[in-house]
Amino acid sequence: MIFELKDKVVLITGVNKGIGKALAEGFVRHYAMVYGTVRNQEYFEELKKQNINPILFDVRNFDVIEELFKTIYEKHNRLDCLINNAGISSNTPASMFKPEEVRNIIQTNFEAVFYLCQAYYRFQKKYKANNGCIINISSVLGLVGTTLASIYSGTKGAILQLTKSLAIEWANSNIRVNAICPGFIETDMTENIQKKSQLLQKVIEAIPLKRLGKPNDLVGAALFLASDYANYITGQYIVVDGGMTAM
Ligand SMILES: NC(=O)c1ccc[n+]([C@@H]2O[C@H](COP(=O)([O-])OP(=O)(O)OC[C@H]3O[C@@H](n4cnc5c(N)ncnc54)[C@H](OP(=O)(O)O)[C@@H]3O)[C@@H](O)[C@H]2O)c1
Repeated sequence: MIFELKDKVVLITGVNKGIGKALAEGFVRHYAMVYGTVRNQEYFEELKKQNINPILFDVRNFDVIEELFKTIYEKHNRLDCLINNAGISSNTPASMFKPEEVRNIIQTNFEAVFYLCQAYYRFQKKYKANNGCIINISSVLGLVGTTLASIYSGTKGAILQLTKSLAIEWANSNIRVNAICPGFIETDMTENIQKKSQLLQKVIEAIPLKRLGKPNDLVGAALFLASDYANYITGQYIVVDGGMTAM
């Protein structure tokens, strides 16, 4: 085992596919007690078979966030790590956005992350926890801009600043808040790139390691940040992008 996560209780949002699924499986492989949110009950049986405890939850449903945490704290009296992974992207040109889509992206990618962090902090206080850990999944598009990513990029940049601010504000409660910035990862979110061979080649040319990332490539950074090896790391982000933003 690279990192010891045994007995740690972890909550990850959006575990039915992509990066969230890989993270949930990775934490289970490292003996963590994993809770994962999904929006559809059809995933429950499969997740249970993989020792992932499924919880039905849409991250925009801010009113039930407290219930989500209550379920876990009442059972374990603790939650060692919250991973805010659920997110959506968009290929809408900036000139074409309608308010409803803008609102949906901001609610899902930013507001939900904030309210989940806030609820986690409140429960940590209530249960008198003496340490805690939040990992927010941002993006390289939180660091650099690109075409057709205006609102998405904006929310991912906001996540990084939120991460730093909460890290400072909650340091005296020993709650570490860090982020991970994936590059281009092979999931449904990048399907439009994967399907267009010319575009895919262009993207790969811009990545020093000459491939898109796999969801599993994110697991190491998350395990590290959630582990006791990262006890003195807060307000930081780890870029997992095959070197793309080093160019
Ligand atoms: N793939 C990349 O290249 C890349 C790069 C940088 C950052 N990221 C970030 O990594 C995270 C995971 O993305 P991914 O690539 O794994 O994408 P994905 O395969 O599309 O998975 C997204 C996950 O988020 C969930 N989700 C979306 N909206 C939700 C909502 N309102 N409530 C609850 N769950 C919701 C989805 O559930 P449903 O299946 O129900 O929609 C799904 O489980 C996102 O935050 C994304 O921005 C991805």
